[in-house]
Formats: sequence, C-alpha cells, structure tokens
Amino acid sequence: MDEFITLTYNGKEIKLPVITGSEGEKAIDISTLRAETGFITLDPGYGNTGSCLSAITFMDGEKGILRYRGIPVEQLAEKASFKETAYLLINGRLPNREELTRFSVMLNDNSLVHTDLKAFYQNFPRASHPMGILSSMVNAMKSFYPELDTLEEEINITMTRLLAKVRTMAAMSYKISRGHEIVLPRPDLTYCENFLNMMFDTPVRSYEMKREVVNALRVFWILHADHEQNCSTSAVRMVGSARVNLYAAISSGIAALWGPLHGGANQAVIEMLTAIQKDGGNCAKAIERSKDKNDPFRLMGFGHRVYKTYDPRAKIMKKMCDELLESMHINDPLLDLARELEAFALKDPYFVDHHLYPNVDFYSGIVLRAIGIPTKMFTVMFAIGRLPGWIAQWKESMDDPKWRISRPRQIYTGSLKYDYVPIHAR
Ligand code: ACO
Repeated sequence: MDEFITLTYNGKEIKLPVITGSEGEKAIDISTLRAETGFITLDPGYGNTGSCLSAITFMDGEKGILRYRGIPVEQLAEKASFKETAYLLINGRLPNREELTRFSVMLNDNSLVHTDLKAFYQNFPRASHPMGILSSMVNAMKSFYPELDTLEEEINITMTRLLAKVRTMAAMSYKISRGHEIVLPRPDLTYCENFLNMMFDTPVRSYEMKREVVNALRVFWILHADHEQNCSTSAVRMVGSARVNLYAAISSGIAALWGPLHGGANQAVIEMLTAIQKDGGNCAKAIERSKDKNDPFRLMGFGHRVYKTYDPRAKIMKKMCDELLESMHINDPLLDLARELEAFALKDPYFVDHHLYPNVDFYSGIVLRAIGIPTKMFTVMFAIGRLPGWIAQWKESMDDPKWRISRPRQIYTGSLKYDYVPIHAR
C-alpha cells in the first residue's frame, strides 16, 4: 500500500510519498516540495538527506551492520578474495569460476602503466603527499587512456584499468620516492600478493611472501571496499553527475578521501598516537583535550556519522591486528597505547553519551605499519580498497534513467541589493 506524509502549511495540505527501502528504512520523497510550496529543505552536512536509491551497500549504524550486495562484511572478510569482492560490488553478484577467471585475466592484462607516467611522478616536488599525486595521476589517466566511451565494453575496460593500474601506480610511487627501480606486476601472483611484491621486492633482497601479511592486506581492502554515500563516494557521484569521465570522478573521490575527517584519519591516528607516546603516554590528558570545545584536538579514529555503536569494520580490524602482530612476533607500543586509549574512551561519560566508538581507522594504521607500509601511504591504501565501491556507485548512477546533475540549492543570507559604487567614491 502506498504511504504518504501530509504536510500542512497555511491551510494547504501536501501529500509527500514515503519511500521504503528493502531493509525497511524510510524516506520522505520531497522532489515536488519546491514546486508545490516554494520551500526547499535545509540540512547542512546532509545528516538527514538521502541523495539516491542504491542497491549496493546496506549499513545500519544503530545495530553496527554492514553488507555488500546483501552479504555481511564479516563473511566476505573471512572467506572472499578482494577480487571477488570488487566483482560483487560492481556487478551485483559473486562471480562464478569462469567470470572470476576472465576478470583476473583482464586485471592482469591491464596492470602495466604507461612508462611516461613515471616522468609525471618524478616532476612532483619530493615532499608531495601521495594522495595529491594519486588524485592528479588518476585524472591524467584520461589523457593516457582516452577511449572511454559509453559502450558497455569500453566502460568495463576502463573500470578494470583503474582497478589494475591504480595498484601498480601506488607501488610505483613508493619505489620512486625511495629512488629504487620499479618492480613490475607478475601474472603468477594474486592481486594482494602482486601489490606487496611491487612494493617490497628489490634486486638485492627478494620479497618473502608471508601468508598472514597477504591475508591482512586482503581483509584491509575488503573492509574498505564500499561504505555507501560517504564523503568521497558522494564526491564521485556528484562530480560524475556532470557526466565527466570516470577517471575525473574517481580523482575527485581520492581528493575527498585525503581529508583527516575521512580516509586521512588512518594517518592521523598514527600521528596522534605517536604524539601521545612522546607526551609520556598520557591517555587521560588526550581524552580530556578531545572533549574541550576550545581545543581543536579530536580523538582520531573515533566517531562516525552513521555508526552509533562499534563500527563492525573496526571489530574485524582490531581482531586481525592482534592476530597479525602476534603471528609476526611484533611488539608495537602504539598498539598497547591504542588499546589503553580505547579503554579510557569507552568508559568516559562524554564518549558514551555521544556514542563515540572506534571506527575502521583506529586500528588499521597499526596493521599497515606491521605490513611495512609507510605512514604517508596509509590513505593511498584506503583509496585502492575503496576503488571498487566508487566504481560501483558511479556505474549505478550512470545506469539510473532518472540521473540528474547534482545541484543543491541554498538559502541566501547575504546583503540585499545595493548599487555599485565607483572606486573614487568608496
Ligand atoms: N573526538 C571527540 N569528540 C568527537 C569526536 C572525536 N573523534 N567525534 C565527534 N565528536 C563529538 C563532537 O565534538 C560533537 O560534540 P557536541 O555534540 O557536544 O558538539 C559530537 O561528537 C558530534 O560530532 P560531529 O562532528 O557533529 O559528528 P559528525 O557526524 O559530523 O562527524 C566524524 C563524524 C567526522 C567522523 C567525527 O566523529 C570525527 O571528526 N572523528 C575523528 C576523525 C575520524 O576518525 N574520521 C574517520 C571517520 S571513518 C571514515 O571516514 C573512513
């Protein structure tokens, strides 16, 4: 039965349809509101605004649920490969054996990058942040691989190219930053193994592939693969709505992810833990500072717009972090500090009342450190993981016959009309 909300204004009644999602979440469809009433809605930060209908990812922030195409993230983290997860997000279902083989072959065939891109890298100032470089490089890919068309096959090639080449480019940037020879992708290695090998293999020491490290990277990337309409995904959808090419849309997502309130938090957590450690490991002081409204300091890796309980990804990440460090016999004092900080925060009435729990970034940096990833590259690792989600969301919007350019309105609060004053009279 169709459901409506009735809005009464100045004696006039307007019926607004209620949209119900497959998991029962409800929205008021206000698309006729302005035409019928002259009003718009105002929702800074979009905390109450749904920007689209989407069949990709379901999350319930109150219950701590996250599912990709209906499959709980816990099951994917335990059983799936990152490649399968990417296929699932983009195509809507898990691949069969033949589809997975075809996808693997396409990823392998597209994994080399144009050698001219190397020169592009070398011209960035040495201190450039890898996220700035990656965003520019992905945008530049349009010039190197220009033939994106609206044909289904072309779109598939572009999506595969991005998944295959961004991983190669990330490892290449690390090698260049160290002044080392680039290591090329190999067809006999899996997606995760290839990345590790391109990062860490050198002519003087072959990279020793450890099962637990490969597994940690697989889980890390699966946990980051999509998260519905977050800041960077909304950027991809919004920029994409102007019908720019996929590279430009993804490049804008990378730029948004860079921010410390979003993907940049994984780097910020390690910097924060290091600073607390230098300050004598005083967790109580850090908690007090984070509550002080006159202090810009926030507990990085804590809090989330949607999760008002423990982030399900953080639960998996924390467990994996413990197991990884134990199996590698690593004793990282930052992990002890993180655990202590979490225990302090979860007991603190401010954190309890504000529903502030660790998010995915709180333990992910410690995992990446154990793998050997430099801190500056943490958010790049997030970006590689998020690529399938950005691509899936862009594709879903492309396939939507009702897709319009994203163009929010505003309420103007500036000065009323007044006349131009010539410079001599000001
Ligand atoms: N430390 C201390 N206080 C916090 C924190 C935090 N990490 N996060 C939120 N709060 C407080 C705010 O001060 C505010 O308090 P008030 O209501 O008394 O004024 C309240 O909680 C709500 O905070 P908002 O900033 O309004 O929440 P919002 O939903 O806009 O922001 C965000 C969410 C950006 C994640 C925020 O919690 C934050 O800044 N966290 C730290 C950065 C971080 O870890 N980001 C990664 C998020 S996960 C991801 O993007 C992959």
